[in-house]
Amino acid sequence: MEQKPIIETVELTKKYNGQAAVDNLSFTVHEGEIFGFLGPNGAGKTTTLLMLMGLTEPSSGKARVLGVDPSREPIRVKGMIGYLPENMGFYRDLNAWQTLRYIAELNGLLPGVADERIESALRMVGLIKEAEKKVGAYSRGMRQRLGIAEVLVKEPRVAFLDEPTLGLDPDTTNRMIGLIERLCKEKNMTVLLSSHFLHQVQKICHRVGIMISGQMVAQGHMKELAEEMPETKDGYSLEEIYMKYFREE
Ligand SMILES: Nc1ncnc2c1ncn2[C@@H]1O[C@H](COP(=O)(O)OP(=O)(O)OP(=O)(O)O)[C@@H](O)[C@H]1O
Ligand SMILES: [Mg+2]
Repeated sequence: MEQKPIIETVELTKKYNGQAAVDNLSFTVHEGEIFGFLGPNGAGKTTTLLMLMGLTEPSSGKARVLGVDPSREPIRVKGMIGYLPENMGFYRDLNAWQTLRYIAELNGLLPGVADERIESALRMVGLIKEAEKKVGAYSRGMRQRLGIAEVLVKEPRVAFLDEPTLGLDPDTTNRMIGLIERLCKEKNMTVLLSSHFLHQVQKICHRVGIMISGQMVAQGHMKELAEEMPETKDGYSLEEIYMKYFREE
């Protein structure tokens, strides 16, 4: 079966004050795939996600999401994707239910459909019992879960998840990872996620890209990356593979 490209970049570059934060980045993510975006702090992961959503303008190069150029049609792209940002901002005075209702309205969902999806999303992230509590009184992990619920309400074809499990407790982390996996399998959702939790990435990502100083120094299936390791052995962990690129620096 031919793989359908959903996210594509060609020599995508972003410069801040003459310095490249993202440097000639070319990669493709196919339909139903979970692509793990790895790299140290400041590598350019978030900047790439922002360009893919039309939230920041590339200095040069091209990007396409579902065939649409995000810098030309940012509103169209934003309408089609789900985004969990690095720092979630919410209206503190709204409760979880009201927050999701607002998101549903913004996305043009009919009230009947919206209510069903909201309830199901709140159950999936385990916030149904806290749905009436004001978000301003939420704990950090609860806010993170609400951010994931926002993505779920939208049921997007593509999700950009910037550190989706940051601040979640171990049990919730496992549930969220399982949920992402399930949505990709059952709904053919495509996911680009950035994370520093290599163990989790290894569990769910079909392919990974390792970014250092704005450049993708390696990308592929775990197996392909393992083949580039200096010694042949079975079962390299993603952490061992990742660390190799730092020894080479
Ligand atoms: N608005 C901005 N103005 C100037 N420089 C910026 C801006 N946003 C990001 N940068 C720079 O671009 C580079 C890449 O940052 P980015 O946030 O994309 O990294 P990251 O890979 O997401 O890191 P982290 O793992 O810490 O989230 C960094 O050097 C950062 O300082
Ligand atoms: Mg980041």
